[in-house]
Amino acid sequence: MNSTIRLDKCLTINYGFSRKEAGTIIRKGRVTVNGSVCKDVALKVSPEDFIEFEGGQLDVVTEKTKRYFMIYKPKGCVCSNDDPQNPIVLSLLEESSGLFCVGRLDLDTEGLLLITDDGAWSHRITSPKKSHPKTYEVWLADDCSADAEKLFAEGVLLRGEKTPTRPAVLKILEPRHVLLTITEGRYHQVKRMFAFTGNRVVGLKRLSVGNITLDKDMQPGEYRKLTPEECAEF
Ligand code: URA
Repeated sequence: MNSTIRLDKCLTINYGFSRKEAGTIIRKGRVTVNGSVCKDVALKVSPEDFIEFEGGQLDVVTEKTKRYFMIYKPKGCVCSNDDPQNPIVLSLLEESSGLFCVGRLDLDTEGLLLITDDGAWSHRITSPKKSHPKTYEVWLADDCSADAEKLFAEGVLLRGEKTPTRPAVLKILEPRHVLLTITEGRYHQVKRMFAFTGNRVVGLKRLSVGNITLDKDMQPGEYRKLTPEECAEF
């Protein structure tokens, strides 16, 4: 027998809505189940049901069928689903239906990217309210400035921002090769933090998100399922 989930949870998983938002959408009659409008938020649905919201079909992702991966995102591919110019990271997976990237890495950034079909799990990682550490290996155009460690620990006010960055930890491996751990995900954050110090990032690789670390021997484009322990991290 197939497992089932509530209709509101199905909407939450597919779109990342909160349970409350999903309930409102369903009660307004915007969701159909097997061709008929359904306003019952608690209706149990299974992967055999055909569910539509605003013309799009929803995957019924039950606890048993949720998928979680780490991929070594290569440079030169994008995290979005519709880029006519660049290869899409999801196309590196054998079967990517219903999957999406957890957050974004820039086109020229490589390294750890999490992929799932679990909207709530993804939200717990990317929500600005959370502060999971993310560590990046950074290669710089010039020697890292002497005050960068202190500046980043205190937080810097990036151009166009209203609040300083949260305290970040800088570890200098070599003058132009460093590790930076941040707990937010602002737009181009690492590049902009080094630009603040007058430097330029010439290479960027994400090594970890929370306690999930990119496998040492993994090559660009390779991926694997996360272990239950890694999934339980968030
Ligand atoms: N910071 C950046 O500048 N780019 C990324 O891709 C990730 C973090």
